[in-house]
Amino acid sequence: MHTINITGGKTLSGEIVVSGAKNSIVALMPAAVLCDEDVNIYNVPRLSDVDSLVEILEYLNVGVESKEDYMKINPTSMTNKMVPNELSKKLRASYYFMGALLGKYGHVEISFPGGCVIGARPIDLHLKGFKALGATISEEGDNIIIEANELKGTNIYLDFASVGATINLMLAAVKAKGKTIIENAAKEPEIVNVATFLNNMGARISGAGTNKIKIEGVEYLHSCFHEVIPDRIEAGTYIIIGAAVGNNLKVSNLIPEHIYSLTEKLREMGVPLEVGPDYVIVSKPDKYNPVDVQTLVFPGFVTDHQQLIASLMVLANGTSSIEETIYENRFQNLYELAKMGARIKVEGKKAYIHGPTKLVGTTVMATDLRAGAGLVIAGLLANGKTEIQNADYILRGYENIVEKLSNIGATIELI
Ligand code: UD1
Repeated sequence: MHTINITGGKTLSGEIVVSGAKNSIVALMPAAVLCDEDVNIYNVPRLSDVDSLVEILEYLNVGVESKEDYMKINPTSMTNKMVPNELSKKLRASYYFMGALLGKYGHVEISFPGGCVIGARPIDLHLKGFKALGATISEEGDNIIIEANELKGTNIYLDFASVGATINLMLAAVKAKGKTIIENAAKEPEIVNVATFLNNMGARISGAGTNKIKIEGVEYLHSCFHEVIPDRIEAGTYIIIGAAVGNNLKVSNLIPEHIYSLTEKLREMGVPLEVGPDYVIVSKPDKYNPVDVQTLVFPGFVTDHQQLIASLMVLANGTSSIEETIYENRFQNLYELAKMGARIKVEGKKAYIHGPTKLVGTTVMATDLRAGAGLVIAGLLANGKTEIQNADYILRGYENIVEKLSNIGATIELI
């Protein structure tokens, strides 16, 4: 297990370049196995979650070649085998192999997925959708077996606009017979990125990015080139760092429309921001206004950003609030923040943060990926030294975070 040590109180300036989106690449890699030739992907972030997916691909006999931000995936010699617990448990996104292998072979056997512990994270909507496409599902211990003689396009209504279910059902439907319509589909940018990837291979998907996605099944998917979109959660993390301790910090290679809910909220807090075509320049204001945040599906305020902005709310003059509507238990970071002196009250799905408070560095624990990133923000603005234990969570979703922050003047090290 790694630890990140930070000595806070430094003003940060310069430029940070945002990497490819974790939540895209973790779907694109399983999606690649649907292809009947090889695929070429650019702007691939180097993350431990990506390494875990390479392990699964290689286990399935899929060729993976990578160099810097390029990855070639060649599934032409792959074998469809049961994906065991020790591989699938490493990350939640291993569940995308369900849709991909079902779509390709009509049969998948996989152990239930792992991932960050942020409350119950059921996959009932994924399974309901697979069934609607004609699959049968059985469970043997921790393993799930999904099979179909033939997948047939149909109308699927998602009770909740789930990101994972929308992508998984696109993967299962792309080679199904006839037309599938996913109603109340999630609209997150990563879904559009996956649909574009599949369409680049010859799939016929329209409506991705709206709440109604249509998929006309095709038989063959060919080689393609594809680019991973910039990571909007990583971009938001560095923009919040700029708002906390920045002086003209430039965060570049981002898509401003993907982070609008965050930049508008930061403006409301009084943070000076310049938003360019693919960058944001951000500085720390003299004083911060308290704000209220409610997490929502895209384009609403992102649940991942909630755990990050919490660290900034500590500085506001008055009481800020966060209402978490997507996950049932995504406030664990706040208990760690309280160890650093933050004044916080959690009441069910709502948290209140009273400010302003000067945080003091101490030993804290990353309880999940974004909780850990929130503690990095807290450590940068605290007095003294912060030791973040369990930092492996952070490395799952942030490429070169220590190098990126060191380059703009932070005192930070990975042990
Ligand atoms: C994805 C992102 C995650 C982000 C989240 C919301 C990835 C790898 N992760 O997670 O970073 O925070 O979207 O934007 O892309 N649900 C069900 N049944 C289901 C599926 C989901 O009840 O079958 C519930 C979940 O428990 C959760 C909510 O729906 O409470 C949102 O889940 P979902 O949109 O599927 O998020 P993930 O794909 O898990």
